Amino acid sequence: MSISPQQLQLLITTSLESRRNAYAPYSGFQVGSAVLGSNQKIYGGCNVENASYGLTICAERNAVFSMVKDGCRQILAVAIALPGGGPPCGACRQVLAEFGRDYPVYLIDSETGSVAAEWNIEKLIPVAFRPDNLSNPPK
Ligand code: THU
Repeated sequence: MSISPQQLQLLITTSLESRRNAYAPYSGFQVGSAVLGSNQKIYGGCNVENASYGLTICAERNAVFSMVKDGCRQILAVAIALPGGGPPCGACRQVLAEFGRDYPVYLIDSETGSVAAEWNIEKLIPVAFRPDNLSNPPK
């Protein structure tokens, strides 16, 4: 499964622009993310920290929740922007896995704006706990 070069460029730009709004006064580590939904719209997210440190929310989950809030429940691709280009945390992998299978996850180096690595959600979280693992899966 792949996306067009134009969609990838927009995904990268959105992740970088979202990162600029990151609220990370405690860690000083800014992260941006962008999600392409099956409705062809792109949703951005940034990390938002809190004085009660554990309440911090990651950039990826903010982007996914924004997509769901807009009525879309299918991810086609994800971009994550941070210095050097790094992978999503375990909690974000689990949330990303809820809304699609086998889609690309682009790790963007925020210093250069280019793709540092291309992953896939199945490789990032193999054997994820999924909705159909529940005894009463949602319809
Ligand atoms: N962070 C993200 O936004 N996404 C990740 O996948 C890993 C970590 C944020 C959380 C925190 O605000 C900062 O990066 C340092 O961990």
